[in-house]
Amino acid sequence: PLAQTGVLVAEAAAKRRAVAAFNIITLEHAEAVVAGAEAAASPVVLQVSENAVKYRYGRILPLARAAVALAEAAAVPVALHLDHVTQDALLRQAADAGFSSVMYDASHLPYRQNLIATRAAADWAHSQGLWVEAELGQVGGKDGKPPLDAHAPGARTGPLEACEFTAESGVDALAVAIGSVHAMTSRTACLDHGLLARLRRALRVPLVLHGSSGVPDDELARAVAGGIAKVNIGTALNLAMTNAIRAYLADHPEAVDTRSYLTVGRQAMATTATHLIGVLDTGA
Ligand code: G3H
Ligand code: ZN
Repeated sequence: PLAQTGVLVAEAAAKRRAVAAFNIITLEHAEAVVAGAEAAASPVVLQVSENAVKYRYGRILPLARAAVALAEAAAVPVALHLDHVTQDALLRQAADAGFSSVMYDASHLPYRQNLIATRAAADWAHSQGLWVEAELGQVGGKDGKPPLDAHAPGARTGPLEACEFTAESGVDALAVAIGSVHAMTSRTACLDHGLLARLRRALRVPLVLHGSSGVPDDELARAVAGGIAKVNIGTALNLAMTNAIRAYLADHPEAVDTRSYLTVGRQAMATTATHLIGVLDTGA
């Protein structure tokens, strides 16, 4: 059934677990994530980034409607989240399109401007009943930009600032920069678990990990044990799908029907989703 992101995150946090939030780009991504969550018998979040909306010719409704239909028919709770929103025009479409939550991303701005922009976005989003996530610090690697040093002093989330930021902006969750970087295709990120512990102690809101595709299983499990309650995963699905399709087409140079290779690509994404959900949900 269609669920609410805030409820899934709160339920996971209460159990010291994390809910997996997968970025979907195509219908096959959404089908694969739901199938993967059903196989794991766990709730899941389908998230659509502003960049994915741009890819879909700037239209949010076609993919959102499909995701809502999949969620309603799913055997496990499935919530919809709008991810990395920078444009107010997109934010304003979230609730009508079926999203229960948004991540408003002004993390590229200096602290004070990030706070002012995030507070305004959160006020409006709350008036629509949306659950709001924001980011403080810089999880690099967005928009194909070269990743900044994830452990540079200015890149990471400071506990004192984070405490003020969450209190003054009123956000429901905070994405923290603790060493992960977006769009990594190798799982070699090292997280600063000491910083995570300080953030967990300083903040009341659930903490979110971005750029999780580059984080190894054991580091993910440790981050969840340390207080991360929502884990965003995008690139791992794309890697699984692309590798599977590349291998299939190499073996079947005569293939023409798109379903032949999309079937193996979708299955590879579902298997990846089931595995990662297991890491977050059981520490396995
Ligand atoms: O918000 C989306 C995530 O942070 C995904 O990052 O593609 O590196 O897994 P990733
Ligand atoms: Zn992200």
